[in-house]
Amino acid sequence: MEEGKKKTVLITGFSSGIGRALAQQFAGDGYDIIGVARDKAKMESTASELNSQHGVEVKLIQKDLAHDGAAKEVYDEVKDFGRPIDILVNDAGVGQHGKFAEIPYERYSHLIHLNIISLTHLTHLFLKDMISRDSGRILNLGSVAGFQPGPLLAVYHATKAYVVSLSEALATELEEMNSKVSVTCLCPGPTDTAFFDRADMEETNVVHYKDKLMMPPQEVAEGAYKALMDGERIFIPGTMNKVSTFIRRVIPKSTQSKTQMKYYEHHEE
Ligand SMILES: NC(=O)c1ccc[n+]([C@@H]2O[C@H](COP(=O)([O-])OP(=O)(O)OC[C@H]3O[C@@H](n4cnc5c(N)ncnc54)[C@H](OP(=O)(O)O)[C@@H]3O)[C@@H](O)[C@H]2O)c1
Repeated sequence: MEEGKKKTVLITGFSSGIGRALAQQFAGDGYDIIGVARDKAKMESTASELNSQHGVEVKLIQKDLAHDGAAKEVYDEVKDFGRPIDILVNDAGVGQHGKFAEIPYERYSHLIHLNIISLTHLTHLFLKDMISRDSGRILNLGSVAGFQPGPLLAVYHATKAYVVSLSEALATELEEMNSKVSVTCLCPGPTDTAFFDRADMEETNVVHYKDKLMMPPQEVAEGAYKALMDGERIFIPGTMNKVSTFIRRVIPKSTQSKTQMKYYEHHEE
């Protein structure tokens, strides 16, 4: 970071998992942070930890991003703080396990609002400011799930396909404009966070084989931080995730879909 110049990052999903791990990376590099999530107690404890370890300023916005107008409310609150956002991290997201037709529709409408609508709206609001300053970076949380269909986690996979596609398209628009602003899509594989409990996936094979399949969020965040600063378009953490994503390009979607479903089935001894 440039000497003497305070930089600010806005991180949604600040209260746990990958968002919290990313906040630690930014704080370690001297960034002041605006954290967004719903759980105030968890945000406050992370904020005081980052402040005492790194001396950075942390402001908090308690917000449910699955609600109409939430992204604009966050934008307006950030404007009131009076600091330009140098980096936007759209991390907040959830999944929902189960057979599509058996899950109440409200769960999907909540998930789509959080994973797609608020992410798109926040990107739209902050990107305009970044373009007019010709400076700034955006990190969107996609997933390896964005590259293939995910039976039993169908809507989640579809939302991540949207995030990957949107991010890549914006990166190209910016490149064609010769803009200094960059958009990076972080596409982790299974990562050891609260995601699986929240998505009702405790009994699934992916959680059962957690020690073999999952990366720690700190490792994901470390690689993502570097990729973001290098302006990479897509970043897939971990060799296994990179290799399996590459191989899947030549496998028919119907086969991919069936293989993926095995991970999401309930584990049987
Ligand atoms: N874990 C994985 O295997 C994995 C893999 C690929 C991609 N990802 C993506 O990584 C991102 C972070 O997930 P994670 O794994 O770190 O899971 P996590 O530990 O459950 O974190 C999710 C974060 O999103 C916030 N959030 C959830 N619902 C919200 C809402 N309605 N309004 C505002 N904030 C909300 C949570 O905060 P509050 O509950 O306090 O609101 C929390 O900070 C997600 O986009 C996820 O899809 C995860």
